[in-house]
Amino acid sequence: MDNFTFWSPTKMIFGKGVENRSGELAKEFGASKVLLHFGGGSAEKSGLLNRIRKSLSESSLKFVELAGAQPNPRLGLVRVGAELCKKNGVDFILAVGGGSVIDSAKAIALSAANPETDVWDFYSRKALPSGAIGVGCVPTLPAAGSEMSNSSVITNEDGMLKRGFTSKLICCKFAAMNPELTFTLSPSQTQCGCADIMMHTMERYFCGDFGRKLLDGFAESLMRTLMEAAQKLKENPFDYNARAETMLAAAMSHNDVTGSRDNGDWACHQLEHELSGKFDVPHGAGLTAIWPAWARYVYRKNIPRFAQFASNVFGCAIDFNNIEHTALKGIEAYEKFWESQGMPINMSQLGINLDEGAIKELAEKCSFGNMRTIGKIAKLDVSDMESIYRSA
Ligand code: NZQ
Ligand code: ZN
Repeated sequence: MDNFTFWSPTKMIFGKGVENRSGELAKEFGASKVLLHFGGGSAEKSGLLNRIRKSLSESSLKFVELAGAQPNPRLGLVRVGAELCKKNGVDFILAVGGGSVIDSAKAIALSAANPETDVWDFYSRKALPSGAIGVGCVPTLPAAGSEMSNSSVITNEDGMLKRGFTSKLICCKFAAMNPELTFTLSPSQTQCGCADIMMHTMERYFCGDFGRKLLDGFAESLMRTLMEAAQKLKENPFDYNARAETMLAAAMSHNDVTGSRDNGDWACHQLEHELSGKFDVPHGAGLTAIWPAWARYVYRKNIPRFAQFASNVFGCAIDFNNIEHTALKGIEAYEKFWESQGMPINMSQLGINLDEGAIKELAEKCSFGNMRTIGKIAKLDVSDMESIYRSA
């Protein structure tokens, strides 16, 4: 088993009605003046925001509001949020919404605590922050796992560059998770979320570390449970238990309990971030569209691992005479499953026509101008990235 560090400091409060404890929880983590941050309207429309406002007031917490975090959250709003914090003496941020809202809140928390540094410098790896304001969250979309991850992903409008920043400084202090809040998600948001959750697990699973039976068991169970829930939700979006399994899986898929983030592969996430940065497609859809091409490009580097995935996650029979055959069956099973859930499994289904110019641009951005490789199971350079985009 590879060496690793496990650090998961977020307090999780799970179940019906927990959003009504937001004020009490923020206070527990030292809040006196809160920035209430949310997205484009779903939380207002459902009445969730009014319950949160009430909860903050009942705990005698003053707050200011910032709406408008959009999918693939933008740097411009982060700067607005940091100014608001400064002007109003904000000492805690409460994010109510999907991963984009939580990521935006984390970026604001960094910016507000490090006013002397341009926040984009943290995302472009030019500087390191010395602290961050505390962030708590009420997640409404099981997907990104930002509620328990140490990451934030922001898009800079200047060049539509999408970059992630990772640090224990930005782990949420608490996540108040009520599965009922996800009843209002559209079928496509639900399935995109499930695809992202599955991929956070797969990025850690396809790591090349064979001596990890317990972690593999966690990961395989999470993936099977998640796929079952995704199928149930296609039939009945109000299935509470399926919503609950999905919400728990989202947090567990990205809090390192199925394996350390540092030991994972992450090539598909890096390749996808360039897609959603440039084309503004949903992150989960970009992932299902890129994974089959990536998998076929790299599977020979670890055929037994892909065969284990086929067998333990998708129930494919192992062909002991031709293990490669089993590995390929698993890739096909992945495609078949997500296609049946209405997700794209290639670029044309994603609605993107990648011409040679776009392929070169994406690979150039993803390789930081040919300055880095990505991936662990196989190290991919700029020409490998081009090949994967091309075959997707
Ligand atoms: O803005 P509102 O009106 O709230 O609508 C949102 C948004 O349009 C809507 N929504 C959220 N909860 C809802 C709802 N609609 C109805 N009912 C609800 N309960 O859903 C839309 C998408 O929301 P968004 O937050 O963008 O989706 P998601 O949670 O998938 O987050 C995606 C972002 O997270 C990043 C992605 O790259 C992308 O930018 N990621 C963050 C990670 C992290 N911080 O650890 C890791 C991930 O791999 C990922 O990269
Ligand atoms: Zn993701």
